[in-house]
Amino acid sequence: MAFSVFRVAWALLFAAPALSLNFTVAGGQIFTPGLAILDAPQPGTPLGGETIEVALDVSANGRLQLPPYANNTPSRIHNITIFLYSYDTGKNFTITNGTASADNASLGDIMFQEPGSTVKHVKWIWPDCLVGDGQPTQVGAARGVYNISIRQNFRLNNVDHYTIFDMPISVTNRIDAGVGRPSCDSLNNPLLTPAQINATNDVPVMFAPGDATIVQSAASNIGGSNGDGLGPTKPGANAGQGLGGAGALNWRSGAHWLCLISIAVAIVF
Ligand SMILES: *[C@@H]1O[C@H](CO)[C@@H](O)[C@H](O)[C@H]1NC(C)=O
Ligand SMILES: *[C@@H]1O[C@H](CO)[C@@H](O)[C@H](O)[C@H]1NC(C)=O
Ligand SMILES: *[C@@H]1O[C@H](CO)[C@@H](O)[C@H](O)[C@H]1NC(C)=O
Ligand SMILES: *[C@@H]1O[C@H](CO)[C@@H](O)[C@H](O)[C@H]1NC(C)=O
Ligand SMILES: *[C@@H]1O[C@H](CO)[C@@H](O)[C@H](O)[C@H]1NC(C)=O
Ligand SMILES: *[C@@H]1O[C@H](CO)[C@@H](O)[C@H](O)[C@H]1NC(C)=O
Ligand SMILES: *[C@@H]1O[C@H](CO)[C@@H](O)[C@H](O)[C@H]1NC(C)=O
Repeated sequence: MAFSVFRVAWALLFAAPALSLNFTVAGGQIFTPGLAILDAPQPGTPLGGETIEVALDVSANGRLQLPPYANNTPSRIHNITIFLYSYDTGKNFTITNGTASADNASLGDIMFQEPGSTVKHVKWIWPDCLVGDGQPTQVGAARGVYNISIRQNFRLNNVDHYTIFDMPISVTNRIDAGVGRPSCDSLNNPLLTPAQINATNDVPVMFAPGDATIVQSAASNIGGSNGDGLGPTKPGANAGQGLGGAGALNWRSGAHWLCLISIAVAIVF
């Protein structure tokens, strides 16, 4: 079977110079420099509703066991933290830093939610300053373009890594006011410059179709169950995991992921 990796250029058009970012997308999944694979949302999509839901496969599509991990396992996810930040609006909200705050305004360790599920559905209540509908209308508004910043602390084949994967979304859909919304101030963190963050991911984007990265584990399935270096097939995915219709097929089974959708997202202020 011939595999190839798709580099999708997502053109995000701002009032400022156009920003083009590359994402590796196959079968509705977005691959990251780490063991987690993003099932939803998709890059550049407008979001709203009661909560944001980030669906993350934390098994490298079935190559890695779920916690609790065996002692001294060569590969494991230590933890995943997620922030929602924007250099446009100056906000940097905690979605999860491993310690839940009151009423789960920020979430606890996502690796321990939905035990037994390889996909963690991280549901986070939009804080109050994001209430609204449509594009931001005032200077200084909190709505607009954000990154979902996924920070993975993990061990792959006995080497520890820390990587940051930023995925753009646009908070432009309707978010209703509600008594349950936490205050933005209670979730906001100092926004650091890229130089202050000083992140250099030391692993590339992994596990897309055609990538031969092997995940060594403590159990007997080193290199996956079938010896081809690709690991077991992705456990049954369904629309509820944010994969949509095409993703419901086995991603290794056919050419459905060959139909690649390149979307130019225009976000105009
Ligand atoms: C996106 O990938 C293409 C091809 O690999 C490369 O030429 C381009 O510089 C990349 N753009 C960004 C913003 O990384
Ligand atoms: C995540 O794991 C790393 C490595 O074990 C550890 O240093 C760090 O404190 C952990 N962070 C959180 C938020 O649990
Ligand atoms: C999102 O992340 C990219 C890459 O880290 C960065 O260049 C961009 O400025 C960020 N966007 C916003 C709105 O902060
Ligand atoms: C917070 O989330 C955890 C994990 O999903 C859940 O067990 C707990 O009941 C929630 N707490 C509140 C106050 O909603
Ligand atoms: C986690 O985030 C919440 C909300 O931003 C914050 O109040 C809390 O101090 C943070 N905890 C840690 C351990 O960073
Ligand atoms: C957002 O806040 C977190 C927690 O303080 C920090 O680790 C992270 O680097 C910040 N992100 C940005 C883009 O400043
Ligand atoms: C980033 O970190 C590396 C390694 O710690 C250091 O050598 C470099 O000077 C740092 N760069 C910035 C801009 O702080």
